[in-house]
Amino acid sequence: MLQYDILIVGAGGAGLYAALETSKRKEIKVAVISKVFPTRSHTGAAQGGINAALGNVAPDSPEKHAYDTVKGSDFLADQDAVELMCQTAPKIIREMEHMGLPFSRLQSGKIAQRPFGGASFPRTCYAADKTGHVMLQTLYEQCIRNDVTFLNEWFALSLVHNGERIAGVVAIDLRTGEVHGIRAKAVILATGGHARIYWKRTSNALGNTGDGPAMALRAGVPLKDMEFVQFHPTGLRRTGILVTEGARGEGGYLINNKGERFMKRYAPEKMELAPRDLVSRAIETEIMEGRGFKDSEGNEFIYLDLRHLGRKKILERLPQIRELAIDFEGVDPIEEPIPVRPTAHYSMGGIDVDIHGRTKIKGLYAAGECSCVSVHGANRLGGNSLLDIVVFGKLSGEDAVNYVSESSFVSFDEMAVKREEEKIRALFDADGKEKLSDLRNELSEVMTYGAGIFREEKKMKEALEKVREIRERAKHIKVHDREMTFNTNLQQTLEFLNLVEVAETIVLGALERKESRGAHFRIDYPERDDENFLKHSIIERTEDGELRISWKPVKITKFQPEERKY
Ligand code: FUM
Repeated sequence: MLQYDILIVGAGGAGLYAALETSKRKEIKVAVISKVFPTRSHTGAAQGGINAALGNVAPDSPEKHAYDTVKGSDFLADQDAVELMCQTAPKIIREMEHMGLPFSRLQSGKIAQRPFGGASFPRTCYAADKTGHVMLQTLYEQCIRNDVTFLNEWFALSLVHNGERIAGVVAIDLRTGEVHGIRAKAVILATGGHARIYWKRTSNALGNTGDGPAMALRAGVPLKDMEFVQFHPTGLRRTGILVTEGARGEGGYLINNKGERFMKRYAPEKMELAPRDLVSRAIETEIMEGRGFKDSEGNEFIYLDLRHLGRKKILERLPQIRELAIDFEGVDPIEEPIPVRPTAHYSMGGIDVDIHGRTKIKGLYAAGECSCVSVHGANRLGGNSLLDIVVFGKLSGEDAVNYVSESSFVSFDEMAVKREEEKIRALFDADGKEKLSDLRNELSEVMTYGAGIFREEKKMKEALEKVREIRERAKHIKVHDREMTFNTNLQQTLEFLNLVEVAETIVLGALERKESRGAHFRIDYPERDDENFLKHSIIERTEDGELRISWKPVKITKFQPEERKY
């Protein structure tokens, strides 16, 4: 059986930063497993940038960054974690600068910073509109330089623990189809988000299927604040592909069918640079009230207008956006406005961890989008995700190193491998009464209906019932392709089973949270209710297979909850 001191699952920004941190100690044996080649991880799709109070454009401070983040979170974020993240930000940006990350620059040579939603100052460091891409390349290059071991195209299936301590994971080598146990003293989950639940309109990569949270749930590890899903205001009309907030940061306007910059009615001060939850609701309201546009295919949208920025600025600062708009919408933003609509983008909720990335199982850590520390609360500010992944990737790596230095391996139940092999066999032998593609579309539709931008009790109850029905029906999905080398039919089925499992926790959390806060907006409870719901929801699967919800207090240090105005 393969054996490592630390096993990192996922090779996006969080996984790679954790790997880099652990690689400083050569005597510790570390490996990263990733279901895609590392530089294809979803971090590479992050466009607009990463926040840090460098004050390169206007005076700024980590404390102001922390305040904006807490206010953006609708006061649900844990403030000790937010302070830690914002204090660490300038240092970690410099660390990456010294690794060679090619940030865009000001005339003075300092790192350039652009305005982003909900931020009091231009605070978002960027590399044109390809920040995540260059970050991923830089971190991967550093990992190779530091001899990090990668098991690429391995897909983790389950966690193995003894009720108290982690023993390792079971994973399938996608090249051969063989299932393996991998022993480890510590496991760091860094598997990314789960917005692929909203299959038909999402900015997320195909692989963002909630593998970490689903494995955690099956292993009895609690998830936190799952009801909070972020819908980014500007996805391309047809595909939901991201159009960075940086486009509005550079001065882009949102326009309705009256030619109006309608954000003046929703956020008169911040306008297009209000936080995402607010801008997304504003766009959907415009569309619902008849002030949007409709194309011949029935797609409804509003326009993002960049034309006044001029050719030079668009080519220099937003080259990828221009390419995407041309390729996927046939629109050149230098000449025409871009048709956009909100798109499922980010999972604020995730595996419940503390500021070191620790879960309730000793030696099991989670970092990045699959985790919930919580630094984003009910609504994440743009540019804080790349920051979260590097800060908490690094901190969990650090803590895992200390942990493994003082602990031994625990026994690994080899039956865990057999159980995964049996599950896979059952998928080949299923009766095939249900089709993966149908169920995937149904899940996406029901989640958009019941757990989308606007929510209400009746729809959520219907959605919960339907998601549970889809979960039952999924037992009939048959994997038709019997080839064991890169069996994408098998992989996508396993990923879908993870999506359904995670979807159920989103709807359950949303039903139980009878208030509106950040991205969770309930038509039937339109106000925030601090008296009853200034708390984190915790969902876990009990031994009898039921989901159980409980609550945990929010940590407040400096910033007392107040009305959120922009
Ligand atoms: O709009 C964007 O560029 C996305 C950034 C983020 O989600 O942090």
